[in-house]
Amino acid sequence: MSNLFVFGCISDSKIHAYKSKEPKNVLVLWFSQTGHTEIYGKLIGAVWEKMGLNVTCSEIREFYNKNLNEYDLVLIAAPVFNYDIPGYVKDCINSLKQLNEIPVASFVSYGGPEGDQHNAASIILELLSEKGGIPVGMATFMNMGAYPPVWDDNTISSPDLPGNKTLPDEETYNSVRAFAGFIIDQVGQGKRIEVDKHITLRRLATVINPIFWTKLAIKKHSIDKDTCIQCGTCKKKCPANAIDPSEYVVNRDRCVMCFGCINNCPQNAIIMTYSGRRLFGFKELLKRKNIKIKEPEELQVKS
Ligand SMILES: Cc1cc2nc3c(=O)[nH]c(=O)nc-3n(C[C@H](O)[C@H](O)[C@H](O)COP(=O)(O)O)c2cc1C
Repeated sequence: MSNLFVFGCISDSKIHAYKSKEPKNVLVLWFSQTGHTEIYGKLIGAVWEKMGLNVTCSEIREFYNKNLNEYDLVLIAAPVFNYDIPGYVKDCINSLKQLNEIPVASFVSYGGPEGDQHNAASIILELLSEKGGIPVGMATFMNMGAYPPVWDDNTISSPDLPGNKTLPDEETYNSVRAFAGFIIDQVGQGKRIEVDKHITLRRLATVINPIFWTKLAIKKHSIDKDTCIQCGTCKKKCPANAIDPSEYVVNRDRCVMCFGCINNCPQNAIIMTYSGRRLFGFKELLKRKNIKIKEPEELQVKS
């Protein structure tokens, strides 16, 4: 399985010059729930640090309402959720102060096979352009998908996991490193990209409100009092503030069906059912399948 990525809108791309200065202070922001987007974001930060840049890396929600004009380059990354980027990433970008013609870049991580992910990366750039940013590049990086309804003990017991279940690998990280270099080249040369969207059937699914339909299909969503250890991970990971572990309560009205709680619970204590079977999360999947995600060497040295 090859790792798919693009460094801009390759077809229909028009390059326009803009007044650029050598980047010094650069910002990498991500939203990440099962860690893939965060690893790629940190890797890009590490590559840029090695190039001598002052790099700030952070979870995007720390930058709500912020003014980013002290940076010479801003990169924003998110996972693809339901053929789109998560709503709270959009909220964070919309909350930023107006950008003073700062070069901006984006990437998404994704796990599905559909080929619609380019549009999600475009959405980040569109929002940043509306804020006054100048789009200089975008990419998509494929890895294991973290969508619990698609796996169960039968599918994962097969020794032949589908190709992306072995990702990210060194090839993925090389693509990420190359993207980091590409962005700096773009800025150095004062180049920008044209942001476009591809028309795909999958994309049409975004108009039928996938969160509503998923919620309808998930019959139970609660916390198992007997196994919960009150570690607070589910509360921390929930972007909708829908969970109160001290009371073992999930507010289903607030929930945005991101699976952040079940995917990260270390005890498998979140109870969700789908098509009559109990789901288990991404951490539990890794445990049951004995999969370890190998981080790129740049990050291993640091930790
Ligand atoms: C709620 C949800 C919806 C998803 N929808 C899509 C999708 O539409 N297309 C896709 O390629 N991957 C989809 N995925 C897979 C994620 O994009 C993928 O696992 C991503 O790398 C997660 O990033 P993270 O580890 O940084 O949280 C979805 C995952 C979740 C949890």
